[in-house]
Amino acid sequence: MDKFQDLKCYEDVDSWETLMFLYNAALKEISTKIEILNDEFQHVHHYTPIEHIKSRIKTPESIVKKLKKNGYEVNVKNMVKHVRDIAGIRIICSFTSDIYLIADMITKQGDLKIISLKDYIKHPKDSGYQSYHMLVSVPIYLSGGFVDTIVEIQIRTVAQDFWASLEHKIYYKFEGKAPDYISRELQECSKIVAKLDERMLSLNNTIQEFSTRTSKDILPSDA
Ligand code: GTP
Ligand code: MG
Repeated sequence: MDKFQDLKCYEDVDSWETLMFLYNAALKEISTKIEILNDEFQHVHHYTPIEHIKSRIKTPESIVKKLKKNGYEVNVKNMVKHVRDIAGIRIICSFTSDIYLIADMITKQGDLKIISLKDYIKHPKDSGYQSYHMLVSVPIYLSGGFVDTIVEIQIRTVAQDFWASLEHKIYYKFEGKAPDYISRELQECSKIVAKLDERMLSLNNTIQEFSTRTSKDILPSDA
């Protein structure tokens, strides 16, 4: 029998292979959607809001570690219910304005359901972490119907990504217990990142205004 035939919803998935198949398919679907949005933006506005995209499936070791850390028995049902970031996509942009632009374009995709949004840019974490998180579900069409599958999307600037990678490295190095002076330094750096992003955005806006004005100046008045 077709192993996908009885799947009515994602919560019915009970085998590891089926689940991994769905998460891989969901990553492909969402990556393609995001690439198309970026290409369309380039086509219409001659500008690409996305610098690059990374995607990953959480390793079985990290899935098990997360379940155990949160006190859940290790089984497929608990993975589906309690580990919401098995399929993850990270979108890196130049400017914070691009983050909200992309989030808005994703929200308007009719077939995606937004499960939750977390704005760690307006409200950074205590660590100093800044990023925009979306938990979305995408329908995966199979021969017997479709299954809504969850993907975590993280959207951040190049500077926020730089900070997060170093913080992640430090977190692992000290197993989550970094000395106070290091945590304080990271929080300071995070404020500098926020300031840098703000100034780069303002600089970019100035350049945009300047180029609109110059192109008007050089064009004949009836053009
Ligand atoms: P997790 O259990 O870590 O997945 O957190 P959560 O379920 O509360 O979700 P949240 O949106 O807070 O974080 C999800 C993901 O964001 C994490 O798996 C990391 O990839 C990233 N993240 C969150 N907080 C931090 C942080 O302080 N530093 C770094 N480097 N990454 C973070
Ligand atoms: Mg995570």
